[in-house]
Amino acid sequence: MTAKIIDGKEFAARVRGQVGEHVTRLKNDHGITPGLAVVLVGEDPASQVYVRSKGKITVEVGMKSVERRMDADTSEADLLAVIEELNNDSEIHGILCQLPLPKHLNEDLIINSISPAKDVDGFHISNVGLLGTGQKSMVPCTPLGCLMMLRDHHGSLSGMDAVVIGRSNIVGKPMAQLLLNDSCTVTIAHSRTKDLPDVVRRADIVVAAVGRPEMVPGDWIKEGATVIDVGINRLDAPEKGEGKTKLVGDVHFESCAARAGAITPVPGGVGPMTIACLLANTVTACCRANGLREPEGLTA
Ligand code: GUN
Repeated sequence: MTAKIIDGKEFAARVRGQVGEHVTRLKNDHGITPGLAVVLVGEDPASQVYVRSKGKITVEVGMKSVERRMDADTSEADLLAVIEELNNDSEIHGILCQLPLPKHLNEDLIINSISPAKDVDGFHISNVGLLGTGQKSMVPCTPLGCLMMLRDHHGSLSGMDAVVIGRSNIVGKPMAQLLLNDSCTVTIAHSRTKDLPDVVRRADIVVAAVGRPEMVPGDWIKEGATVIDVGINRLDAPEKGEGKTKLVGDVHFESCAARAGAITPVPGGVGPMTIACLLANTVTACCRANGLREPEGLTA
């Protein structure tokens, strides 16, 4: 079987288009402009790239974008004060504090200081609990993007066997929860899982989110399964020229694509969906804050 390539770039453009329409409606009909604030502490180069790109796309869909950059040695009290200010700002509907934070800051404390209603990352303990009990919550962006692609490809996921490889709070655990809420039979696999190849071979849906380049080979994949690759790993690529690098996922693309029914590429798969879902979450938060009907198809 040769897999259908799930085009995350195209899908994300579609989601951004829908978000843009809702933003226009909110502005024209209600005089409200959704606002997203991103807080960046320190100078981590990858985080700087993400934050710049988030700000640019936020403005492109017509939202207000606020960036708060703080020094790497910012105190917890100063960071908490900035978050409190954003919590109380009625023009801001979504707040994201870029992770990882410098080591001296308590990440859990900071995340849980964001108002749950504005927690567009879905990392606040209240949102984690709401998702875990199947209630309306803010849903973490990467798993939400994966879910949208899976629903788009399959329609109903009910009764499917799903394996999530990786148990992070940001991707693995919420992904498993979302699949369970959609009535999949879910296994969460991780570094201590016994017979990982056999576990993966049983799955109709494989979500790989471990951060280990090309760790899933094609012969682990059940014929016709759907493979969602969350990994973004940079490898040296001497074959492309001296000092060149390339991005690869957590699955070995060619061999997995030869067996899968559908697969997301890296780059151009899950990656673009994450920011699109951040925008979707911001519109959702804005609608909820103003007692307006939330957009359909943009939430779990
Ligand atoms: N760092 C890497 N991914 C993410 C994300 O989804 N949200 C936040 N806040 N930080 C990140």
